[in-house]
Amino acid sequence: MKGFYTLQDLPTADVEKLVARALHLRAGASARRFDGKALGILFFNPSLRTQASFQRAAGKLGLDLVQLQSGGNGVWGIECEDGAVMDAGNAEHVREAAAVLGRFVDVLAVRAFAGIQSLDRDLRDALMNGFRTHAGVPVVNMESALWHPCQALADWATMELFEVPKRAKFVLTWAWHPKPLPHAVPNSTLCMATQRGMDVVLLRPEGYDLHESILAEARALAQANGGTLTITSDREVALKDASIVYAKSWASLGCWGKPEAETAQRANLRDWCVDASWMRRTDHARFMHCLPVRRNVVVADEVLDGPWSVVIDQAENRLHAQTALLESQFASLERKSQIRAKSPVPLELPQ
Ligand code: CP
Repeated sequence: MKGFYTLQDLPTADVEKLVARALHLRAGASARRFDGKALGILFFNPSLRTQASFQRAAGKLGLDLVQLQSGGNGVWGIECEDGAVMDAGNAEHVREAAAVLGRFVDVLAVRAFAGIQSLDRDLRDALMNGFRTHAGVPVVNMESALWHPCQALADWATMELFEVPKRAKFVLTWAWHPKPLPHAVPNSTLCMATQRGMDVVLLRPEGYDLHESILAEARALAQANGGTLTITSDREVALKDASIVYAKSWASLGCWGKPEAETAQRANLRDWCVDASWMRRTDHARFMHCLPVRRNVVVADEVLDGPWSVVIDQAENRLHAQTALLESQFASLERKSQIRAKSPVPLELPQ
């Protein structure tokens, strides 16, 4: 089952087709309808944009929507480790939960963040991969421990909307935040911009590198698509001539699962807040952030409310990008079922 796990799983030409379709939908084109088909959306973590935009996309496509939330009176706590002795909090294993949901819906979308307790578990993307393995239907990643591909698709569409050239300078910068945050957004952002063939700069203080496997993937994408990847902690060099400043905070790999160590490490990094002085060093750059964002912590009011910010268009594009994505997923299922219907099936009648 194909589904949608990372953006870079798709050939660049296919991403470009989805982006073009998203922008047609944004301009008022009608989506195809798949009446009688069902989409499940299952959230293990909070969401505003993803939840609302998937609901709205399902409506545009004529889909039945099965919406599930963990916690409180939501779905049972789900175990994803094989061989686990389930005598603690989790009442159900992903093997059953995924397989059962796969009998109710045609496509299942899941949000399951990194726990930031065990790096091994987060690098395995254990819960998301449990659903991908056992659902028996295509699974769409609505943000996992490692990736946020729907955000990346919308971000690519946003740069097309604002006619940002392919070889423009794209700066992904770390920002201070009171809490250690997962790597899904920066991982996907780095790979999206390198796959788009941009001159990408990863700007971060010492101690805030992304995982080596992600950097290797981004380097390969840059090479394959005619772009570059530079890593620096020099703000002046990074911002010079930049067309995009994309801010995000993320946890230190060296402090994974140790929040007190992380707090101490970032104590002197509060000036990593994007303000107008950053933006004035660029070449009239657009400011991007996936949202939600902490004002005057990650980014100053003057940037979010100023001429640089495109964050609201960026968020709107989640709807159009996901409508395009789901349309292609359901169209692909439809083609497969037509192929099956055409192949001769031995008819067994009761005697
Ligand atoms: N950017 C994003 O995924 O927003 P939500 O967490 O609100 O869905």
